[in-house]
Amino acid sequence: MILVKTEKTIIPFLQKWRKNQLSIGFVPTMGALHNGHLSLISSSISDCDICVSSLFVNPTQFNNKSDFEKYPVTLEKDIALLEAAGCHILFLPSVTEIYPPNYVSPHYPLGELEMILEGKYRPGHFQGVCQVVDRLLHITHPQCLYLGQKDYQQCMVIKKMIELRNYFTDVKINPTIRDANGLALSSRNMRLSDEEKILALHLSKTLFYIKENIEPGNVELLKQQMAQQLEDKGFKVDYVEIASAATLETVTHWNGNDKLVALVAAYINEVRLIDNMLLF
Ligand code: PAJ
Repeated sequence: MILVKTEKTIIPFLQKWRKNQLSIGFVPTMGALHNGHLSLISSSISDCDICVSSLFVNPTQFNNKSDFEKYPVTLEKDIALLEAAGCHILFLPSVTEIYPPNYVSPHYPLGELEMILEGKYRPGHFQGVCQVVDRLLHITHPQCLYLGQKDYQQCMVIKKMIELRNYFTDVKINPTIRDANGLALSSRNMRLSDEEKILALHLSKTLFYIKENIEPGNVELLKQQMAQQLEDKGFKVDYVEIASAATLETVTHWNGNDKLVALVAAYINEVRLIDNMLLF
């Protein structure tokens, strides 16, 4: 695997591959890699000739300073995992490489999408995600971009940014990888104690419960009950929500036909976790 740290050094590789008609798949990450990330690498490798990954803990998407400072860093292990997975090139930029002194941050008109759910509880987060992914796509210009359903709203936001910026990149979304007990893999799980990891299972259990028990009609009570149960177990709940899978518009009354997604965000002590599940 080639390791590059600057835009200037990655571009000649990409130009050479493009000139040789090789297709490029791109997997952006913030490191602390797990099998969720590796599933994206593996999809990129099976679809495209060249797999490019990036590892950059993007400061502009953290609305909470301590979350940024405590974000897990396991660089050597990450490099070994990417190499073993068959990734061809890893882009490992510094903050000034992504945001040079002359960088002017664009504003992305994301509309309602950044006012709801994660957008509501993490103001500015999605502008930061758009900034970094825009910079990375501008550098790599991949045919395909690989994202995880684990960050459902992020997938919608990035698709919208790609439209706004006219990139010719196909977005491929992989299902959420879970551990054997159903816990969605997340870099932030590394910050949980063994006891907290057991508690965290209630997030996916809540989503499975909603999936199995949702009925046409009013769904507000179901959301409230689920949020209350999590609070009673010691979570600090930001939301348990049921929304249109296509638009993320909140659903209070389900007609029995529309495709829905259930989403949850809650803290276990200092660590904020999110998960979601399609209900069809
Ligand atoms: P990060 O949290 O490192 O995630 C990188 C990619 O891995 C994202 O597309 C995310 O949805 C996916 N992913 C995370 N956990 C997953 C799981 N359990 N199963 C499947 N895919 C999973 O998301 C980010 O980084 C950043 O916001 C980024 C897009 C890199 C921009 O900074």
